[in-house]
Order: sequence, then structure tokens, then C-alpha cells
Amino acid sequence: MGSVTSVGPPGDDPGCRGGHADIAEYVGDPDDMTDNTVDTRRRRFLTGTATVIGGIGAGFAAVPFIASFQPSARAKAIGAPVEVDISKLEPGQRMIQKWRGKPVWIVRRTPAMIDGLKSFSAGVLRDPDSTNSAQPLYAKNVWRSEKPEYLVLVGVCTHLGCSPGFVPEMGAAGMGNPWNGGFFCPCHGSKFDLAGRVYIGVPAPANLVVPPYEFVSETRLVIGVDKENPA
Ligand code: FES
Repeated sequence: MGSVTSVGPPGDDPGCRGGHADIAEYVGDPDDMTDNTVDTRRRRFLTGTATVIGGIGAGFAAVPFIASFQPSARAKAIGAPVEVDISKLEPGQRMIQKWRGKPVWIVRRTPAMIDGLKSFSAGVLRDPDSTNSAQPLYAKNVWRSEKPEYLVLVGVCTHLGCSPGFVPEMGAAGMGNPWNGGFFCPCHGSKFDLAGRVYIGVPAPANLVVPPYEFVSETRLVIGVDKENPA
């Protein structure tokens, strides 16, 4: 009759060759088939149990791992288009709507503001035709907008990302000449006109970005709809 002993973890016993800390191992007469058979069954049982438990554990561990690849509802919402009611926006005013974590400005320009966009002489604006600036095709014009009356811009300075202030008054004090209204970034002094076009001689390298948008009625628009490249 053999005996059953417990084998400790590696390091407990200089002679230990394995790491079966909790698995009983047969030590004794190799011809004693009764004990040997019982122990073999027990070992298979323990090995099988460990395999099943390990498989279940791996399954549970895989669930959050796979789930982490699925975009959350919040992540989807952050990138989703945003519908804006502009019915209360008066001529000459600006409203701000958050989209993809950034401020988006909607300015309702007056007829004088629209006229003022055409009156700049050469040498005032860095990129008057928006050749090196980001905007949808329908906004690549002197107004940088689909409708001359409404300007839609991402309100983030193209220099280092500050949000410029709105200075709509023509000839406003401290803005230099010419100034037909526009946006001033106080971080490093960049200036933009009322179409978001950057002045020459300031740190910002490009016009303000026009996001994709679409009018769904006379008083509502949706920011984030790419109608030039529909999904
Ligand atoms: S971040 Fe606007 S001028 Fe530098």
C-alpha cells in the first residue's frame, strides 16, 4: 500500500520538480495498482476540473476585453451630428454649439457684414480664397458658407487651439485697420475676419475651419453631416 503526500510549491523542497502545490501525488509501490488507479482517477478529475474552471475564467476575462473594442453609446454620441435651432439668432449675433467636444460658432451676418467681406485690399488676408484652408466645397467662397447670411465655424484658433473672441463692430478699438468685424485670439494676437479668414502677420497659419453642415429648414441646421461624402 502506498501513501499519499502533498508536494509543495517550487522552492519548498530542493527536490521538487513541479509546481503542483495542491495536487496530491502518489508516492509508493508502483505495483500497487489499487492505490495507483484511484490516484490516477483523482488526478484526471482534478486536472479536468482545473481545465474547466480555467476555461470559464478565460471566457469571463475575454468578455470585457472584447467589449472594450465596441464603441460606447457615449463615444457614438460625441461624434454624432447635432441639430441646432437658429430661429432666435438675430442679425449680428453669434451662438455657440458644442460638437465633438469643440465649440462651433453660428454667426448671422448683417448685409453690411456681408458687404464688408468683399472690401479687403490685397495684402490684408493670408489666404483670401481659402486655398490652403479646411472647409467643405460649398463653403469655398468669399463668405466661406453655404448661405451668405449664416457663417458656421469651428471656434478653435488654428495657431495653438485657443478659442478666439467675437469682435463684430466695424473699426473696433485696438483691432487695427482695416477691421470690418471678426474674431480676435487673445493668446498670441491672431485676427480673423467675419468669414474666419486669417490676417497676414499673425501667428495663426490658416483660416478657421468650417465643419460640414446642412440646413434642414430655414431655421434649423445640422452640424456634422457630410453631404459631400455621405456614409
Ligand atoms: S492660439 Fe490663437 S494666436 Fe495662438
